[in-house]
Amino acid sequence: MTRGKFIVFEGIDGSGKSTHAVLLKERLEKEGYRVYLTREPTEGEAGVLLRRLLTGKADLPEQAIAGLFMTDRIDHILNAKTGMLRHLEEGEIVICDRYYFSSLAYNGAYAPMEWVIELNRLAMDTLRPDLTLFLDIRPETFLSRIESRGSTERYEKVEVLEKVRENYFKAFSLLPEENVQVVDNGRSIEAAAEEIYLAVKDALGK
Ligand code: ADP
Ligand code: TYD
Repeated sequence: MTRGKFIVFEGIDGSGKSTHAVLLKERLEKEGYRVYLTREPTEGEAGVLLRRLLTGKADLPEQAIAGLFMTDRIDHILNAKTGMLRHLEEGEIVICDRYYFSSLAYNGAYAPMEWVIELNRLAMDTLRPDLTLFLDIRPETFLSRIESRGSTERYEKVEVLEKVRENYFKAFSLLPEENVQVVDNGRSIEAAAEEIYLAVKDALGK
């Protein structure tokens, strides 16, 4: 069976990742593709602890948090029951909301980015996205969008997200071998969704 393609959405908090991930899934399924939609942090053992850290119910040094994101990611890739490799081997398209560029951009705001890249080396060598879609919005736009969701998490502050957005672009230039497409999501959902769809069809080779 042909291995499925691996599509990743990245962007700052509130940039529209989950919205576009669902729209893409629905559109591909209408065309007959089998699609597995997933996200990081996961619902697994490390992901549960990460949620507690993100909502301030637990605390650890930033480097330990970066390590925990990596632990969660390796589980997400390799887990025998729920792992993404398994879904890809079954020929499904895997759409993942956040992956290692999130570590580079967020955890790289608190620890040297080169160190975070090394920390993520196993994931990079084991499962590289066929396409990473970076949804770009201005950090001010994020505030108005996430306010509609209620409570805010650890990294959801404008100054932090300015730095995170800069870090994404720094990470893209440090890893030129990655297939990254920057999509402006400051415009209508429909316009951005169309650009995403065309980029994905290109990555699928259709
Ligand atoms: P993320 O998953 O990146 O945190 P969401 O998909 O939850 O972001 O989007 C945050 C909010 O922004 C949601 O209310 C969503 O409906 C809205 N949104 C997403 N894309 C757009 C867009 N292009 N224009 C206006 N609002 C948008
Ligand atoms: P989540 O609620 O999924 O983000 P969003 O608001 O975009 O829907 O929360 C995930 C948070 O964890 C987000 O602030 C980014 C951060 N994060 C890291 O710091 N490192 C990582 O490796 C990942 C995957 C996420």
